[in-house]
Amino acid sequence: MTVRIPLAAPDITEAEIEAVTAVLRTSQLSLGPELEAFEKSLAEYHSVDHAVAVSSGTAGLHLALLALGVGKGDEVIIPSFAFIAVANAVVQVHATPVFAEIDPVSLNLDPASVERAITPHTRAILVVHTFGVPAEMDALGAIARRHRLAILEDACEAVGAQFGDPPAARRAGSFGDLAVLGFYPNKQLTTGEGGAVLCRDAAYARRLRSLRNQGRSSDRDPLADAVESSPRSPDWLDHAEPGYNYRLAEMACALGRVQLSRLHEMLALREAAAKRYDELLADIPGLERPPVELPRRAISWFVYAVRLPIDVDRNRVQSELARQGVATGRYFPPIHLQPAWRGHASAALSLPVTEAVAPRMLALPFFNRIDPSRQREVADALRRAISPG
Ligand SMILES: Cc1ncc(COP(=O)(O)O)c(C=O)c1O
Repeated sequence: MTVRIPLAAPDITEAEIEAVTAVLRTSQLSLGPELEAFEKSLAEYHSVDHAVAVSSGTAGLHLALLALGVGKGDEVIIPSFAFIAVANAVVQVHATPVFAEIDPVSLNLDPASVERAITPHTRAILVVHTFGVPAEMDALGAIARRHRLAILEDACEAVGAQFGDPPAARRAGSFGDLAVLGFYPNKQLTTGEGGAVLCRDAAYARRLRSLRNQGRSSDRDPLADAVESSPRSPDWLDHAEPGYNYRLAEMACALGRVQLSRLHEMLALREAAAKRYDELLADIPGLERPPVELPRRAISWFVYAVRLPIDVDRNRVQSELARQGVATGRYFPPIHLQPAWRGHASAALSLPVTEAVAPRMLALPFFNRIDPSRQREVADALRRAISPG
């Protein structure tokens, strides 16, 4: 079946193409000026001191947990209604994910459930700003302070979102000890593949830079030395600790820099598209639309996901839309019910809100330049699929 209306699409203009091409005309394709400039712009945008660009959001989560010192024997509280990378990263550092319940409206961690999940082994709360809706940072921050836990924000779906009452509102990614951004092509801001870790603490930033670059103490690229025909940086082969190759190439950083400069305009397009769906879908009985406004929050629209009426078979609706060339997504199957978690102690957990909400979720085609007439087609197709005949 051909996809006529895709689920997501990146928004790439001539400015991005020129910026990437300009990098390709240089001989520095890694660890160069674009990385430095992209990191500086990301830190400024989020009002934090440091941004460390990495090869993906998942790599960012991995490094952030390592930087926090989370490891074997530690527990990290996470939502089960989230992308699988959140749990995978915790497992990657040999710690244990502990699933907490979500709030049925915001779909973010429910602070009361988080507090109940705390044990003497808990080290951190991994707060995901799901679908670009900022989590309840005041309550979660207070819990973390009370129990001396770290907060790792996962803002992979929420670049540009804000929490708090203006003028004290702050961007998602500026609340945690560390925060992670993701730049996959379905995200509000893309670098193809990519991510970043944000922090205020210089020691964290140093460690993150080292870990993303094979545990090196220097970010200097030996090719740059060769080009400048200066002696090779003596510490390129000095490794302070075992690390990873989670570097982000110069082309990706150049792309990210242009995208960040256009973010305000891109978020406005997404918000307008969300509001159009809200009106187009208002007359479908039993269909629950995502809130277009929430108190104390500026939403950065990642996906537009509806909840189907309770008695409607999602498989049937999805197949019917697919038959008409309309792509949809099941965001997200609960992690604790994934095959990968079968046999794991937390698979026996009961998370009634997560388990009631997840099977009804359906993400509709949603991207910056979705044509309003296409949105109408999606709405009509969905209406027919929900109530055939
Ligand atoms: C909440 C969340 N965390 C982490 C990630 C992982 O990011 P990446 O795909 O860049 O590894 C994603 C990506 O979709 C995400 O939505």
